[in-house]
Amino acid sequence: MATFNLKINGKSRTVDVDPATPMLWVLRDHLDLPGTKYGCGIAQCGACTIHLEGNAVRSCQLPVSSVGKSAVTTIEGLSEKADHPVQKAWLEHDVAQCGYCQTGQIMTAAALLKRNPNPTDEEIEAQMSGNICRCGTYVKIKEAVKSAAK
Ligand code: FES
Repeated sequence: MATFNLKINGKSRTVDVDPATPMLWVLRDHLDLPGTKYGCGIAQCGACTIHLEGNAVRSCQLPVSSVGKSAVTTIEGLSEKADHPVQKAWLEHDVAQCGYCQTGQIMTAAALLKRNPNPTDEEIEAQMSGNICRCGTYVKIKEAVKSAAK
């Protein structure tokens, strides 16, 4: 066990955990932030996507010991009132079906638009292709990302 002082959603948070603990479980089990989802646990599905210094990363393969002072943002901290342009576009386009993968999808899309506010269709597809949706909401996801980019 070790103590880690983390910067989560703009706040300082302290956890006592094994240094190898993936951030996914630190967030969900120790910090009461369940919006980040467990899908595969092996960096293949994208359900666990969070931001590390604004970049989309897979928290299931991110040991807490590697985070250091980097700013972590989860879906709970993406916006004040769930009103980030991507979140609004998701609702406008009625993207979610079962909803399980959607927080990861939104975090990936938000990181894309921060880095590239006007992505082409190909850039959207390339960025979002690693986020798997078992309901097959890919068409709506693409529409929502394009709409949020406007
Ligand atoms: Fe992390 Fe699937 S749970 S990528």
